[in-house]
Amino acid sequence: MTQTKKSSTGLKFSKDFLWGASVSTHQVEGGNHNQWTVWELETAKQRASEAQSNYSHLDCWEEIKHQASLPSNYVSGVASDHYNRYKNDLEYVKKLNFTALRSGIEWSRIEPEEGIFDKQALEHYTEYFNDLKKAGITPILTLWHWTFPEWFAKKGGFLKRSNVKYYLRYVKYVMDNFGVKIDFFITVNEPTTYAAMSYYESRWPPQKKSIISTIRVLHNLARAHNRAYKIIKKTYPKSQIGLAHSCTYFYAGDSSLISRISVWSAHRFGNEYFINLVKRYQDYFGLNYYFANRMIGTRAHNQKKKKNDLGWSLEPDKLRPFLSVLYKKYKLPILITESGVADSVDKYRKWWIAQSIKAIDGAQKDGVPMLGYIHWSLLDNFEWAEGFWPRFGLIEVDYKTQKRTVRPSAKWYGQVIEKIRGS
Ligand code: BGC
Repeated sequence: MTQTKKSSTGLKFSKDFLWGASVSTHQVEGGNHNQWTVWELETAKQRASEAQSNYSHLDCWEEIKHQASLPSNYVSGVASDHYNRYKNDLEYVKKLNFTALRSGIEWSRIEPEEGIFDKQALEHYTEYFNDLKKAGITPILTLWHWTFPEWFAKKGGFLKRSNVKYYLRYVKYVMDNFGVKIDFFITVNEPTTYAAMSYYESRWPPQKKSIISTIRVLHNLARAHNRAYKIIKKTYPKSQIGLAHSCTYFYAGDSSLISRISVWSAHRFGNEYFINLVKRYQDYFGLNYYFANRMIGTRAHNQKKKKNDLGWSLEPDKLRPFLSVLYKKYKLPILITESGVADSVDKYRKWWIAQSIKAIDGAQKDGVPMLGYIHWSLLDNFEWAEGFWPRFGLIEVDYKTQKRTVRPSAKWYGQVIEKIRGS
């Protein structure tokens, strides 16, 4: 049993509880070449021309309209240049008292051509993750966060069951050649978001719109995870292996039967359908938490008292009951692998983090074993189809100069970690 102490904040967290932030390779590294960069170049102009119809309803429209109307907003390019500047970024991680960082390996760098592996690229990640460990930071390593080599896309990506073997070959290569002892692995990031956005909503590459393809992709990603789990376990029997699930908390906005049935079915199909495909192969439950939906009748009616820059309704307090629901069903310790706010003026971030910590403290009191809180994101980054204008970073990035500025909410988060851990 790990020791749990009450700090001067009145909060009780174990010494091993992971405090930190998250990044993903494609969103921060810069200089990538994968299926997403190909799509960015093909569609940037068109998406820039659609900025007004896509974003003018947002409260921040006046502030973002110039940037959102430029094609360059939609091309990841050098992004936050984290590939070259990670040592400098690690200094911020230390200054902010983080004990963990979630980051990843980019498949398209490791295997740029089919079956040809780039040793030097893997050496970069070996150094990266070794540097984290030397600094006393626990790495949480993501093996796949939505981007893959162009050759894999040409073969049909995760739509084809027979393609799962290529992902597994990449995972095996990393396991055989990496050599850094990793405590936490994430095989796949948000499979349900990826499948829905790329194969149902038609908003991300390859922009398909088919319910059958969406279900196929989900099943193939579940297969990919389940088999990768076994490969990783062989090499690192002591590692904790999971994936990052994007789950929405659904609750009834009135007492009608239809609202309660909606809550049940949205949770069953939106969250549990995929989780049940992988539940035998998880050492912990990775949760990306951003959304709660208040169901009235068959639809979500969110009050939107507080909204982020993307117009998402903010309900961090719903995390507490949600953690209990997930724990009761899956009986696994929970790691918050992402949770955060697009907030360019840093209006809500501190409040969001404070509410999230309160919710986790409450969940622990309700008996839920919690492993950590990993905020999204360490740095401002490339927010997929939206490009650069949404600002999720604890640290602001000036994309012209690559200057980093720690936002006030991040300073506060760092002090809270020190208080909780130090006393
Ligand atoms: C994803 C991140 C993304 C964040 C904010 C999560 O769904 O894993 O890549 O940037 O949400 O939208």
